[in-house]
Amino acid sequence: MKWIAFSAALLAQSLCLARAESSDVKIADFEGASYGNWQTTGTAFGAAPARGTLSHQMSVDGFKGHGLVNSYHGGDDAMGTLTSPIFKIERRYLQFFIGGGGWEDKTCINLLIDGKVVRSATGPNMQSGGSEQLEPKQWDVSEFLNRDAVIQIVDQASGTWGHINVDEIVQTDREMASWLAPREMAREIEIEKPYLNFPVKTGAPKRRVSVLVNGNVEREFEIELAEGAPDWWAFLDATPFHGKSITLKAKLPGSSHALESITQSKTIEGSEDLYHESRRPQFHFTSRRGWLNDPNGLVFYRGEYHLFYQHNPYGWNWGNMHWGHAVSKDLVHWKELPIALYPDEHGTMYSGSAIVDWNNTAGFQQGDEPALVAMFTAAGKPFTQGLAFSNDRGRTWTKYEKNPVLPHIAAENRDPKVIWYAPEKKWVMALYLDHSDYALFASRDLKHWEKLCDVTIPGDSECPEFFEIPVDGNSQNTRWIFYGASGRYLIGRFDGKKFTPEAGPFELQHGNCWYASQTFNDIPPRDGRRILIPWGRMTERDVPFHQGMPFNQMMGIPVELALRTTDEGLRLVANPVEELESLRKAVHEIKPQTLNPGENPLAGIEGELFDIVAELAPGDATQMEFKLRGIDVTYDAVKEEISCQGRTAALKLVDGKIRLRMLVDHTSIDIFGNDGTAYLPIGIALPAGNKLLQISAIGGAGQVQLLKVYELNSSWE
Ligand code: FRU
Repeated sequence: MKWIAFSAALLAQSLCLARAESSDVKIADFEGASYGNWQTTGTAFGAAPARGTLSHQMSVDGFKGHGLVNSYHGGDDAMGTLTSPIFKIERRYLQFFIGGGGWEDKTCINLLIDGKVVRSATGPNMQSGGSEQLEPKQWDVSEFLNRDAVIQIVDQASGTWGHINVDEIVQTDREMASWLAPREMAREIEIEKPYLNFPVKTGAPKRRVSVLVNGNVEREFEIELAEGAPDWWAFLDATPFHGKSITLKAKLPGSSHALESITQSKTIEGSEDLYHESRRPQFHFTSRRGWLNDPNGLVFYRGEYHLFYQHNPYGWNWGNMHWGHAVSKDLVHWKELPIALYPDEHGTMYSGSAIVDWNNTAGFQQGDEPALVAMFTAAGKPFTQGLAFSNDRGRTWTKYEKNPVLPHIAAENRDPKVIWYAPEKKWVMALYLDHSDYALFASRDLKHWEKLCDVTIPGDSECPEFFEIPVDGNSQNTRWIFYGASGRYLIGRFDGKKFTPEAGPFELQHGNCWYASQTFNDIPPRDGRRILIPWGRMTERDVPFHQGMPFNQMMGIPVELALRTTDEGLRLVANPVEELESLRKAVHEIKPQTLNPGENPLAGIEGELFDIVAELAPGDATQMEFKLRGIDVTYDAVKEEISCQGRTAALKLVDGKIRLRMLVDHTSIDIFGNDGTAYLPIGIALPAGNKLLQISAIGGAGQVQLLKVYELNSSWE
């Protein structure tokens, strides 16, 4: 092991040196709502300091407070300058934080005296990849004491890293110790165990870590490395490096001990209560570690449902997009497998889909086993679409050597959804282009694509879904459905060339915890279901349900879609897949009865995980209300609406009654009304201390015609 280490005392000293003190003279901290008396030219600096990361930018870190100068307004191509008012040099040093492009004279901060540049500094980055981390920097300006000066921040670069980030410009008499400056650190490890564990502190500065074997970079990612006690341990699957010597490299403050604290182990560090942590959903899929978002590559093959997903293995927040992977035989019990797709030279791995190439159209097959083929977005500069294939039932993946197969078309085009169009024996792909615009493409071999037509979904964007579905179960009468990440769906016809919408857009769901869903490819015809899994998205505005956990975000429960004739016309309905019923254990069956205000036939039932089935006739009641572990689910019989957590959906009385199904997990309630006509996945942290249930009639007596409460097992048992 080679080490460059510094003492904790020096670390403490460095922390106070990096902070402004009363004797310092602050020139600007960019915390205000405007640049004050600083002047801008051009567009790159926007009208005011940025509040952190700008749209489409990698996550910006290392600035102080909430605001900073960030010339990524309008992307890398925009240019401009930002100039300070005249000030007097009153201290020996001028100190600031800087990041972004490393282009001399073009992405820089300059100190001007008498109109001449006397000091200049740039950010560190000149190639794609890199990091948006700001680092401290100091100039010795003692030779200019008492002179008038001006600071100019310049962005005269376009293209790769054509922007500059600056914050917290301070005059000080304290020299920033040279060891505070970030430096390249390295550690060698002989890999003998399957896991390399990295200590993570969410909110710590992001460091870019490279894993090298024989001088080649095999893995690279950003991670908020903990210097002290970690919040949790992220892991890197080290099995591919078994018996080899790897080198970890990162640019870290000279005082850092982070590389030293990385451990090797047989099981993931801190995983004693894995899948049973206090806020771990028990029948919604979550990843062992890190962040997840969109389900990807949903495909069924040889008895296994494959769930790939957008995954940050090294952080609690979005970033470092990989394809995580899990498999299940029943859509209920999942087994996590190693990462399927790692970021590569084309970019990080954004969303996409997978198919079984039964006819070996792409030529990836080896032996008798058809290849599984994934089509994904490589989110590089620019975004392109590529292929990867597996010859071992999805266990290992190889990228196609001639990627990309679909070059850049528009903006951040992404999220290819590929399906087999049997009538013409060809592949059809739906792709998201920009705004609300999508397009369909076709290919014989998955490698060469031609455009078929454009599709617009007003009010939706990202993650297209496109499939054929029978009307009322009649396979002789079908329609095609097209929707985006929000589930605003169009119903129409498809002739192999053009999608022609006939109705919509309509809302597939009305919850607060549903986005970027996908449906399975290759469900066998004898099953024939259209099975959907959404991302159970918990947005920043909501309570951070998984705070304190080593993971964040979940998948929604799998639902079966059907297209039904209703009074309003054709509509999609969604119901939990029947496999979820296998989790049911004890049942509490409530007798049909009149429910008077004040009565609660559910009193006495206690639990945490429930599946509740009800048929209610409100009668004289204006409302029928459930309290599920303290959370209200309310049926308003006057408005004929069901609501929970501020989300509402129409739910008509049919013969004077409604049918409800509600599934309660640790951080969600999934509500289905009238056999899936109303579909409300609700993300909410169920209060740990409350295990009670209640049903009540409000405003008059109602009827409970059927009420069954199933306690549920965990799917992780
Ligand atoms: C939707 C999305 C996709 C993209 C992915 C990146 O949530 O923004 O459009 O491919 O997430 O993680």
